Amino acid sequence: MTKFTTILGIESSCDDTSAAVVRDTILLSNVIAGQDVHKAYGGVVPELASRAHQSNIIPVVDEAIKRAGINKNEIDAISFTRGPGLLGSLLVGTSFAKGLSLALNIPLIDVNHLQGHVLAHFITVPLSPLYMERGLGGEVITFPSFPHLCLLISGGHTQIIKVNSPLKMEVIGTTIDDAAGEAFDKAAKILGLEYPGGPLIDKLAEEGNPLSFMFTKPKIAELNFSFSGLKTSFLYFIRDNVAINPDFIEQQKNNLCASLQQTIVDILIDKIIKAVKITGIKEVTLSGGVSANSEIRKQFTELSLKNKWKIHILPFSFTTDNAAMIAVAGYFKFKQNLFASHDVAPIARFEL
Ligand code: KG4
Ligand code: ZN
Repeated sequence: MTKFTTILGIESSCDDTSAAVVRDTILLSNVIAGQDVHKAYGGVVPELASRAHQSNIIPVVDEAIKRAGINKNEIDAISFTRGPGLLGSLLVGTSFAKGLSLALNIPLIDVNHLQGHVLAHFITVPLSPLYMERGLGGEVITFPSFPHLCLLISGGHTQIIKVNSPLKMEVIGTTIDDAAGEAFDKAAKILGLEYPGGPLIDKLAEEGNPLSFMFTKPKIAELNFSFSGLKTSFLYFIRDNVAINPDFIEQQKNNLCASLQQTIVDILIDKIIKAVKITGIKEVTLSGGVSANSEIRKQFTELSLKNKWKIHILPFSFTTDNAAMIAVAGYFKFKQNLFASHDVAPIARFEL
């Protein structure tokens, strides 16, 4: 009989405390506790984030094991996010993972958060009614083949990655300043919206005209990105118009959101077209929180149909930070016997 591998994954790189259990790549549970405490500050406050992780981690892990319907002695290894992320937040997950691995006498696996986002496409959600009852959904995801290109767009990163195998990845394009998620969040802050502003811009853009306003698009060489110029041009545009009409933001909110969002979509599409051309790889995956954006999902799907590429778009719950992706990445490392020692330390800046 085939022996399945059961992995407990732990994610605490930013402001979500998450734990998940997978059996090979099959998802048994994925529990996420968000942190509303940051909303009032317009961004994540690192000290508050690590304190919230400390109070959330035990109940979240406990719940993940319960929902998976397993006994903790069935876990074969614990994978955790080592970085990149906020050091204080990463420390909570790392220390907890180390402690539990010692207590259960099972191996520890360190995972790069970015690798987790890329491998989120390998999370298998079962179709069984039992799983649906537990709210795990019933979508079957077709795995991408290798090599493929991953457009990783999150709050901290914007990269094009050539994925040669689950553990062999090459960054072929990256942002030279802000990430796509930061562009959404900073623009939202300028409009007076709460953090994180990305989902709010997405919602408000639904009622707006994307052609209402034009914002500067960067001219950056090769497959690299830049979003700080867009933020500045948006800021000056708003400032100049508010000086003339104090109600400008309120009157144009939907059009501003739609136009800004379309500029970001155009920048991303332009680079992915280039990446496909340069590499000849016609299979693209979208990962990271920004890939929850409805226009990005829609326009990338249209683009792939038009150009006959294969596109993989994640269910919403696997776009933003989650431990399921860390558990699946842990599974691939387990298969290669890639374990961490107990003196492993978190790394705030951790390249792929
Ligand atoms: O992957 P993620 O959860 O965390 C990081 O690793 O950074 O991504 C969070 C980012 C935030 O910037 C948030 O505003 C953005 O994803 N985001 C969105 C949407 N949902 C989340 N941006 C645009 N449209 C959305 N629907
Ligand atoms: Zn992330």
